Amino acid sequence: MAESIEIQASSRIDKYNELNPQMQGLLSGESNRVANMANFCAALKQTIDFHWVGFYLVEGDELVLGPFQGPVACTRLRRGKGVCAAAWEEKTTQIVPDVHAFPGHIACSEFSQSEIVVPVFNSNRQVWAVLDIDSDQKNDFSKMDQKHLEAMLKYLGE
Ligand code: SME
Repeated sequence: MAESIEIQASSRIDKYNELNPQMQGLLSGESNRVANMANFCAALKQTIDFHWVGFYLVEGDELVLGPFQGPVACTRLRRGKGVCAAAWEEKTTQIVPDVHAFPGHIACSEFSQSEIVVPVFNSNRQVWAVLDIDSDQKNDFSKMDQKHLEAMLKYLGE
């Protein structure tokens, strides 16, 4: 049977609450990271219409674009610059209410106004990827998004 997700809720918090068990069902039976990252992006973007949802994967000294949903994006991000690199290097979720006020922000899309980047850890607490979500609204992310995204990222696997 083809996998699908069904979300009825209208508030964002309720959407996350409905999405979480469906995300678990979608990802937990699959061990391939790329497949899981791809379906993670699709399920999240289908549920909440963010401007851009995608992963960057750690490759040596860079972050390289992985599965995503949305407009074409920068392919390689270097250490020491931008929101994704900050999440990677500081190993903490970055919430940026206004990207124009973040020193070193890397603009892949002129429509992005706010952003959240969540690091993805392996079992040794090493960051192997980051999840980046861009919104075309200012101040669109809060600790509530952080909590739900961090919880669902656990279903990606190692
Ligand atoms: N804004 C990010 C770059 C990635 S794009 O938003 C898709 C950053 O500053 O790291």
